[in-house]
Amino acid sequence: VEETIKVGHYGSMTGSEATFGQSTDRGIRMAIEEVNAKGGVKGRKIELITYDTKGDSSEAGKAVTRLITSDKVTAVLGEVASSLSIAGGAVCQQYGVPMISPSSTNARVTVGKDFVFRVCFTDDFQAFALAKFARENLGKTKAAILYDQKQAYSKGLRDEFTKAFKKMGGEIVDDQAYSGGDQDFSAQLSNIRSKNAEVLFVPGYYTDGAAIAIQARKLGMKLPLLGGDGWDSEQLGKIAGDSIVGSFYSNHSAPDQPDMADFVTKYKAQFAGATPDALGGLGYDAAMLLVDAMNRAKSLGGKDLRDAIAVTSGFPGVTGAITMDKN
Ligand code: PHE
Repeated sequence: VEETIKVGHYGSMTGSEATFGQSTDRGIRMAIEEVNAKGGVKGRKIELITYDTKGDSSEAGKAVTRLITSDKVTAVLGEVASSLSIAGGAVCQQYGVPMISPSSTNARVTVGKDFVFRVCFTDDFQAFALAKFARENLGKTKAAILYDQKQAYSKGLRDEFTKAFKKMGGEIVDDQAYSGGDQDFSAQLSNIRSKNAEVLFVPGYYTDGAAIAIQARKLGMKLPLLGGDGWDSEQLGKIAGDSIVGSFYSNHSAPDQPDMADFVTKYKAQFAGATPDALGGLGYDAAMLLVDAMNRAKSLGGKDLRDAIAVTSGFPGVTGAITMDKN
């Protein structure tokens, strides 16, 4: 019997971003089960090894080190949060093991790391779309920002949004920071309220986004909130309830997109009727794209696999067609 091909996944299976890791792991598992049912890769089955990062950067680095040095994985999938992918990616680069992040959007994740890839858009694109939506669809001129100073993702998206919104004739009337996990946002929100902002951009993750929405409404603020992909969790609505109604966020895919229908049907059948968030689809795409590259690669050695991933063009993902560019 041929040995299995080991693939690692590091993700936040617990903690304040738990749905990120859980949904991604579901998508990855679905893909690998399908591939194994059809005979695997190069005649070998794939074995998935998942470690919990708890949403913590140093845990992410440790998880990836363990996957590479003790489990001897062929490739690594993860993380969702950009700061954690930056930490894990440094380890993959050091050991020459290819990594594909399903969903980290910060530019720094892949810069200068030729073993690190992603299968999603980046934050300059996302910020442009959000700014355009705020200006053109919502018709707003004055925006305030409340961002998480602990996350590379949040800081990057705040910078890119500021640039894009100003270019489109908008004004940033207040720019406030918090630290992920904070419980009290009343000082920042009171400040924002006094500046007469028409829309509040909150480029953070869903647990904080929900808490901010609740506290803003308590302070009598009626303006719409705007988020990035980091809001994508069933928990956002569960925690925030009515406080989030009338707000908007950008995302990688939507379950009612016609080209996602097959994937959504399969996901629901496998996971007790649950509708996949974007992370499920991106996890599935990252794993399937990796398998596609494994099949094309000269060998499963780090460099050969890296080269095969790097030339991926027009790969038909469930979240859209995926092409690697030079970054
Ligand atoms: N893009 C976010 C980051 O880079 C992670 C994320 C992706 C969260 C998709 C939710 C959905 O940190």
